[in-house]
Amino acid sequence: MTEASLQTDWTNSVANGAAPDEAALREHLRAVHEEYAGFTESCAMHCRDKAGRTSYDWLAEVVEPERHQAVLDIACGSGPLLQLCHELLPGLTRLIGMDMSPDELRLARDRLPAGRAELVEAQAQQLDFLADNAIDVALCHWALTLMDPITPVLTELARVVAPGGRFAALVDGPMDAAPGYEQVHDLIYSHVQAELPNYGPIDLGDPRVRTADSLVTLIERVIPGAAARIETSVVRMSGPSKTLAEEASGFFYAAFVLSPAARQRMLADLADLLADAPPHQAPTFAMPVNRLIVDLPGLS
Ligand SMILES: C[S@@+](CC[C@H](N)C(=O)[O-])C[C@H]1O[C@@H](n2cnc3c(N)ncnc32)[C@H](O)[C@@H]1O
Repeated sequence: MTEASLQTDWTNSVANGAAPDEAALREHLRAVHEEYAGFTESCAMHCRDKAGRTSYDWLAEVVEPERHQAVLDIACGSGPLLQLCHELLPGLTRLIGMDMSPDELRLARDRLPAGRAELVEAQAQQLDFLADNAIDVALCHWALTLMDPITPVLTELARVVAPGGRFAALVDGPMDAAPGYEQVHDLIYSHVQAELPNYGPIDLGDPRVRTADSLVTLIERVIPGAAARIETSVVRMSGPSKTLAEEASGFFYAAFVLSPAARQRMLADLADLLADAPPHQAPTFAMPVNRLIVDLPGLS
C-alpha cells in the first residue's frame, strides 16, 4: 500500500479490512475538516438545479416562516445554510448551528453577524444543549450519511423538534438519476481502491442512510408516527474540465485519502472523463441529490 495523504485510525482500520469504530470515524472526519475546512460549500455553491437553486436553497425551502420560528442546522459546517436562513428568514427567533468540527465552526462564526446564531461544538448524537421541543425545524445538509451511530441522532431529533415540527436533510440521490455521475464515482473509487482496496466496501456512516427506502424505513421505525418522504433532483456545474475535476472530487470524502501522486493521477483521469462532453457543450458534472422531509406527529 502507498502511503495515503491522510492517515488516521479510520484509514488504518480500512487498510486492515476491519470496521472502524465510532471514535475512529469521529477523528477521521475531524482530521478531514481540519485540513480542508469549508470544502463542502466551495463545491456545493457551484452546483445548481434547473431552477437555478443550489442544494442549500432547495433545503431551506422546507422552512415555513409563518409556523417555524426556531431553526437548527445539524452539522452546519462553515455555515452557508445558516447564512441563507438569516438572509431569507429574518423573522426567525432562534437560529442554531452545531457541528463537531471547531475548524468549520470558526468559518461559520466569521460569516454571520455577531449574536445572530448560536453556534455549538457538539455531536449530533448528543444535543444536550437543547431542551425538549426547543426547535421547529431541524435541517441537515450533506452530513447524515456520515453519521454512525445514526439511531441516537434520530432519537435526539425527535426529542428536540416540537410536536408537529419538521426535520429535513439533503443526502445523496440515486446514482442513475444524474448522467455520468456513476462513472465519476467509479473513477474516483478505483483510484482510492488502488491504495486502499477496502475503501468502498467499508465506507463512512451507516449504510442504511444511503438509499431512500432504507432511510425512510429507519426513520419511521425510530420515530413512531413520523411521516418521511424523499424527493430527487439533480444539480450541475460546468466549466473547464480541470477545474471541474478539482471541484467535483471535493464531493467525495474518499478522494481526501489519496496520496499526492495518486491524487494528481485521479484528477488528470477525471478531467479527461469530464472533457469528453458532447460537441458544443461545456464539460459538466451532474450530481443526484435527495431531499428527505420528515414531519413529526403533532400533539394528539
Ligand atoms: C460534508 S460537511 C457538510 C457541512 C455543511 N452542512 C454544508 O453542507 O456545507 C459534513 C459536516 O458534518 C459534520 N459532522 C459529521 N458527523 C457529525 C456528527 N456526528 N456530529 C456533528 N457534526 C458532524 C462534519 O464536521 C462536517 O462539518
